[in-house]
Amino acid sequence: MPLVTTTEMFEKAYKGGYAIGAFNVNNMEIVQGITEAAADLNAPLILQVSKGARAYANHTYLIKLVEAAVEETGLPIVLHLDHGDSFELCKSCIDGGFTSVMIDASSKSFEDNIALTRQVVEYAHDHGVVVEAELGTLAGIEDDVKVKAEDSSYTRPEDVQEFVERTGCDSLAIAIGTSHGAYKFKPGTKPQLRFDILEDVERRLPGFPIVLHGSSSVPQEFVRMINENGGNMPGAIGVPEDQLRKAASMAVCKINIDSDLRLAMTATIRKYFNDHPDHFDPRQYLKPARAAIKDMVAHKIVDVLGCNGKA
Ligand code: G3H
Ligand code: 13P
Ligand code: ZN
Repeated sequence: MPLVTTTEMFEKAYKGGYAIGAFNVNNMEIVQGITEAAADLNAPLILQVSKGARAYANHTYLIKLVEAAVEETGLPIVLHLDHGDSFELCKSCIDGGFTSVMIDASSKSFEDNIALTRQVVEYAHDHGVVVEAELGTLAGIEDDVKVKAEDSSYTRPEDVQEFVERTGCDSLAIAIGTSHGAYKFKPGTKPQLRFDILEDVERRLPGFPIVLHGSSSVPQEFVRMINENGGNMPGAIGVPEDQLRKAASMAVCKINIDSDLRLAMTATIRKYFNDHPDHFDPRQYLKPARAAIKDMVAHKIVDVLGCNGKA
């Protein structure tokens, strides 16, 4: 099966009350860890590439790695541009074989966001590619751009219908309290997603797929493992997984997870070096790191997304 778009995946996920995992990829071991878990669980998959990942690993290498994953697993896999910030970047990914792009113009004015999103949608749809757009601003760090908590803003449900109609986008990322990175909420606080906003959006856009960014839950065992093995991460907590599961049963069809994979990989490698200070063959420490990513993704598929068996 070749790379697919999200159209059919989201239709089934919406009706079935589950979500598809969108995991960020940067190298071979990450692609393998994610896709091995999805293959074992027969789960549909979105592999997403940020501008930073493309700069790090090179467009062609990433395309070939994902094509290899499609060939090895036979799963329906979407190759998605995460947080495209310009028409040119989106065009380059569309021309270069991606099946889905995000144009993130959420920091612009409502009218400018519509204009840029519309431009990307027209080009993408002419080439059989789907488009995710964003309304509302998440806090946190993406591609070295830091949005302070006070500059973040929840999505206004009264804007979504006009935005979707005027842009023609295929899915919409909204801000309901998630944020990017490993430092989402202060330890001791009780994170609470704004389900009232999600419900309102769902009422205004029946059947339309909604996306949640910033959905890592920052497992404390990995933060501890990093700190017990020479790291120095400040305390931090993420989005509670039961709240993500609830969102997945509602209109949310795509849940983005990157930081949890980074934590699993880094914690495993730090521990490996502490346990084996004399080792230097990269295969020795990348093997357990890949296995840790596989375990993390398997857990997300079964316990958070609910998309196991849905490929
Ligand atoms: O939302 C951002 C993703 O976690 C990708 O991060 O831009 O550092 O690759 P990156
Ligand atoms: P996390 O930082 O919570 O993993 O979010 C990733 C993301 O939204 C990628 O677009
Ligand atoms: Zn994001």
